[in-house]
Amino acid sequence: PLNEPFDLVLFGASGDLSTRKLFPALFSLHLDGRLPSEWRLVALYRREHVDFIENLRIPIMLNHNTNDESMKAKWDTFATHIVSFSFDATAPENYGELKTFVNQMPDTSTIFYLATPSVLYGKICTGLANAQLNTENSRIVLEKPIGSDLTSAKDINELVSQHFKEQQIFRIDHYLGKETVQNLLVLRFANTIFESQWSQKYIDNIQITISETLGVEERAEFYDQVGALRDMGQNHLLQLLCIVAMEPPSRFTADAVRDEKVKVLRALRTLNDLDVHKKVVRGQYKTGVSNGSAVKGYVNEAGVDPASETETYVAMKVEIDNWRWAGVPFYLRTGKRLAHRACEIVVNFKEVPHSIFDLQHKKTMANKLVFRLQPDEGIRLILCEKKTGPGVNVRSTELSLSPDYLHRKRVPDAYERLLGDVISNNQTLFVRQDELIAAWEWLDPILKHWNESEQGPEPYISGSWGPAASTLMLAKDGRLWDETFSPSEQEAD
Ligand code: BG6
Repeated sequence: PLNEPFDLVLFGASGDLSTRKLFPALFSLHLDGRLPSEWRLVALYRREHVDFIENLRIPIMLNHNTNDESMKAKWDTFATHIVSFSFDATAPENYGELKTFVNQMPDTSTIFYLATPSVLYGKICTGLANAQLNTENSRIVLEKPIGSDLTSAKDINELVSQHFKEQQIFRIDHYLGKETVQNLLVLRFANTIFESQWSQKYIDNIQITISETLGVEERAEFYDQVGALRDMGQNHLLQLLCIVAMEPPSRFTADAVRDEKVKVLRALRTLNDLDVHKKVVRGQYKTGVSNGSAVKGYVNEAGVDPASETETYVAMKVEIDNWRWAGVPFYLRTGKRLAHRACEIVVNFKEVPHSIFDLQHKKTMANKLVFRLQPDEGIRLILCEKKTGPGVNVRSTELSLSPDYLHRKRVPDAYERLLGDVISNNQTLFVRQDELIAAWEWLDPILKHWNESEQGPEPYISGSWGPAASTLMLAKDGRLWDETFSPSEQEAD
C-alpha cells in the first residue's frame, strides 16, 4: 500500500485522458486497497457538468464488467474522496480559491496533475506559484506531448522549472508503465544470456510497432494539431527504443536509468533533408474497413480540417551511432486505423553464419525475441527445432515467457503503476528534462522538413498496414516488417 496521505489536484478532469485512464486507474488502486486512508482528489474541469462523479461511475463499472451492489458500495466510498468543480486555469485570480481546497498539512503531499494541453503548463505553474501552492511537499505531473517542437518544449520546461525543482516534476509517458516494458528491463539486466547477445555482433535489426485500429475518435481538436510523430513518436516510440538500446545502468535508480536513456537519444544519428526523405514515411488514413465496419477517411472525421495534412501514421529508420549498435537499424512505426491493434518490440537476430540443415524453402529462420505489450502482454523467443519424425527437418518453435498472461492474472494498467509511483515519489519511470529535449532535438529536422515540403502525407487505406512507402523503405534494406500476431494465430507447423 501507498502510505503517505496525498491530495491530487487534477487539471483537465473531464478530458478524455482523465475519464478513460486516470479515474479508472485510481479506482483500481482503491479496489486493490493500495491507497492510504487519507487521500483526496480535487477534480478541476473546464465546463459546468451536472453529476460529474456519477457520470464517471457507469463506464468504470462497465470496465470492471460489473454493476453489482458491492462494487457500487466500493465506488461510493471512493467517491467520498473526490471534490470537483469548474475551474478556468487561465484566470490567475482562481488560484487563491484553489488553495482553500488543498490540505497543506506537513505530512500530506500535493500532486498537481496537468492533463491539459501543454500550452497551459506555464500559466498553471505560475498560478500555483502565485498562490504559494508549489511547496516543498508538492509534485507536478505533466502529460505528453510537452511542446510541439524543440523551441516550445524548451520554453515550457523553463517556465515549469521556475517554480518546481526537477525532483518534483514527473513527465509521464504511460508506455513506461506497461508491465512488459519493465519486464524488458529485468530480462535484459537480470540475465546474462541476453545481454551477451545484445549488440551489433548478433542482432540484425530491431523493430518497434505501435499499431492502433482506432481512428481519431473524439479527439480531432487535439490530434489535428499534433499528428502521429508528436503524439506517439516523440515519446512512446523513442522511449521504447531507449529501453531496448540503453547500456546497463549501474543501479536501478531514477537518475542512473535516465542517464543511460539520454545517452541513447544523444547518439541518434541526425537526419538531414535527404535522410528525412529516405528514412521517414508519413501517412494519412483514407476510407476503408476497420474491425469489420466501413470507416471514414481522416479528413472526413468530425472536427478535422478537410484540407488537413496531419499524419496519422509514421515510420522511421533510426540509427544509433555507438559501438553497441553501429550498423543495426531500428525500424519504428505507429499509426491509427491499421490492420490490428498491437504493440511489439521485435529483436531480430542475425542468421547462423552457415546453415547445415534443410530449411524447407524458407529463406531465413533467424532467432527473434518478441516483446508484446498489446493487446496481451508477453515475451516469446523464436528458435529452431527438429521436426519429429524421419530425416532432419528444421522448423520454428517458441519459448513463451508469459506466465501471468497464461494464467490470466490481471495485468495492471500502466496508469495504475505510474500514479502509484507519483504518490510514492519514485521518478524512475518518468522522463527527465534532458531526455525530453534530446528527443525533440532529434525530431526537429523532421518537423522542419515536413513544414517546408510540398509533399503531404501518403494515403493509406483504413484497415491496411499503412502506406506502401513504408514497406518499400525496409525492402530497400532487404527486409520486411515483422508481422505482428497473437499467440493463437501462430502457424501450426
Ligand atoms: C496516447 C496517444 O498517448 O496513447 C493516443 O495520445 C493513443 O493517440 C494512446 O491512442 C495509445 O495508448 P495505448 O496504451 O492504448 O496503446
